[in-house]
Amino acid sequence: MKKILTGIQPTGVITFGNYIGAIKQMVKYQDEYESYIFIADLHSITIPQDPKELSKNIRSLIALYIACGIDPDKNVIFLQSENEYHANISWMLECNTYFGELSRMTQFKDKSKKHANFSAGLFTYPVLMASDILAYDVDYVPVGIDQKQHVEIARDIAIRFNKKFGDTFNIPDVLINDDGAKIMDLVDPTKKMSKSGENPKGIIRLLDDISEIRKKIMGATTDSEMCVKYDEVNKPGISNLITIYASVTGKSIPDIENEFLNANYGAFKKAVADVVCSLISKIQDRYNELINSEELDRVLDNGIVKARVIAKAKYLDMKNKMGLKR
Ligand code: AMP
Ligand code: TRP
Repeated sequence: MKKILTGIQPTGVITFGNYIGAIKQMVKYQDEYESYIFIADLHSITIPQDPKELSKNIRSLIALYIACGIDPDKNVIFLQSENEYHANISWMLECNTYFGELSRMTQFKDKSKKHANFSAGLFTYPVLMASDILAYDVDYVPVGIDQKQHVEIARDIAIRFNKKFGDTFNIPDVLINDDGAKIMDLVDPTKKMSKSGENPKGIIRLLDDISEIRKKIMGATTDSEMCVKYDEVNKPGISNLITIYASVTGKSIPDIENEFLNANYGAFKKAVADVVCSLISKIQDRYNELINSEELDRVLDNGIVKARVIAKAKYLDMKNKMGLKR
């Protein structure tokens, strides 16, 4: 069975866009691949974090992923900072990574502009990500398009290390989450629904009050045509609601257009709100069961044991090959 691995930063509450575009894909992959999912808390501290908020977010995110259908029996789920081998491997890889190639990372260029005084960790972040990936000899790394360059540098580092010290790492491929639908902002449907969106009315967060979610959908921007038809250019608002309805119900766009042929926008929005609210309520019920439970700790305790064994073996192999021994 091919292996996949992905990391999620514990910053901000995930949106309905994340759920449709990324988490649902992972839920599908768990039946096709040997899957590793970890919370990339060491990555999140490249930008200053409030310690209390951070640990709250870590627990919340793990509970939310499991509530969304990430099955602990089908995935190794763990917390990055509990596996000390990631940072150890990262140092050995850093010494085989060029300053020049890290300077070319577009995410670093963007983020370093936003912070007057950024950390060295923000610069070396892609190497830590390479160590997350390479430690497990994975075949595929499912990520959003913004992370593609980081997976490519992980490949370059692995190829270089293999050449220099002998075959050590499997060379992974990126798996872009693009067969999931793209969900747009409810207020400005020409923009992607994003955690960092300006207007909270445009964003559905998975932990929002259900009544708030219903209000946001009922208040979504539409047009004056009164016709439920998919047309991204001229009717971006209605098209987005059709996409949302399709991605929750599994119905096709033509079937949805047919279903609402004679409906007004109010009735259509109500139908969209009903299916979205029902889905998110179920996720929230499961989340509430998990968040303070020992079950959550058991999942992480099991995951870290498995993850450490694999990463430790890779660490010792690298150390040995590099001559770090008596
Ligand atoms: P981000 O929140 O931008 O770090 O994205 C995390 C993952 O969620 C990536 O795989 C994105 O492609 C996916 N994602 C984020 N926002 C959306 C959206 N509005 N629609 C679909 N997928 C999304
Ligand atoms: N850098 C990724 C992000 O910001 C998170 C991440 C860290 C990751 N390590 C990883 C993703 C390894 C995939 C594989 O979204």
